[in-house]
Amino acid sequence: MARMKVLITGGIGYIGSTVASACIDAGIEVVLLDDLSTGRVGFAEGRTLYIGDIADVDLLNRIADEHPDIDLVIHCAARIVVPESVAEPLSYYDVNVGRTVTMLRGLAARGIRRVLFSSSAAIYRGDSGGGVDENAPIAPGSPYANTKWIIEQILRDAAAAGEIRAVALRYFNPIGADPRLRTGLQNPTPSHALGKIMTAHADSVPFTITGTDWKTRDGSGLRDYIHVWDLALAHVAAVQRFDDVATSSAPYQVINVGTGDGVTVRELVAAFERVTKEPMPVVEVERRPGDQAGAYAIVDRAADVLGWSSQRSVDDGVRDALAWAEKLRSLG
Ligand SMILES: NC(=O)c1ccc[n+]([C@@H]2O[C@H](COP(=O)([O-])OP(=O)(O)OC[C@H]3O[C@@H](n4cnc5c(N)ncnc54)[C@H](O)[C@@H]3O)[C@@H](O)[C@H]2O)c1
Repeated sequence: MARMKVLITGGIGYIGSTVASACIDAGIEVVLLDDLSTGRVGFAEGRTLYIGDIADVDLLNRIADEHPDIDLVIHCAARIVVPESVAEPLSYYDVNVGRTVTMLRGLAARGIRRVLFSSSAAIYRGDSGGGVDENAPIAPGSPYANTKWIIEQILRDAAAAGEIRAVALRYFNPIGADPRLRTGLQNPTPSHALGKIMTAHADSVPFTITGTDWKTRDGSGLRDYIHVWDLALAHVAAVQRFDDVATSSAPYQVINVGTGDGVTVRELVAAFERVTKEPMPVVEVERRPGDQAGAYAIVDRAADVLGWSSQRSVDDGVRDALAWAEKLRSLG
């Protein structure tokens, strides 16, 4: 079989760069497109990077001219900060929805009609503390999450009309870094729970658990922390099996990408203590407005359709996140 080639938008962001590494390791060629808004240029080292906006059709045409053999686009580029999306929804709908549509049209016009989309578990209601499959109730809780849901519907409609074929991967909560530490989070102080634990640890202050009266096994909120390398490998499987997954008779698929296991905040703290071999003091406070019990992924479809399941533990994710944070400090 000819070597596959994929275009990765947002290819120097946290997830896009890790997906790129996993593709390269699997013998898939990558071409990256990124506007540098949050991406880290060092993540393109040794890789082909086009700098510009996803909706720059001239640039898309240049990419297609120079790489007529691109089989598929992995669309990771987006603005992703939930509170910012609440403050600036028009900008979020512009970048995540409007420009995505322009990009999809531009690529389809050049024959790039296979689309693998970075969707999010944030579109689910996610308030049960239990498992959610792909048919669980949808209730995006922010403009950011809504952009993901709107794009899913656009992909579904465009696929039904034969304009494209598409697979939306609904990511749960990615943590960690490439185990070889080629890439990781660009942000040294991420706002997710693990990021806050790491910051508290670095500052030698207790970590604050917000909400301890959820209907979970220990009362703290629950998430499905998926190691970003496992997440990247799900993309490799989706690229390699794309034509069997999104067929002409079923041209649009959604697939949860998580571990299938919920981990509570207290359990995450315990994992952190196991990895660092140090006690992590905590303080407990009331829930914050907008918090949810959370949910974990039911992952049968990923196993059936992609032949993929996550392999790495939360401890692995914590270990790689810490190792990456140290490397990031040394990179400056
Ligand atoms: N990180 C998570 O927890 C998470 C969870 C679920 C889904 N996702 C989705 O995964 C994708 C990647 O997220 P991430 O965590 O890697 O974020 P990120 O900010 O690290 O990466 C996004 C990349 O897209 C680029 N970009 C943004 N707007 C662009 C534009 N208009 N044109 C070209 N490039 C542009 C940025 O420079 C950046 O490199 C996003 O679509 C996000 O919604 C992320």
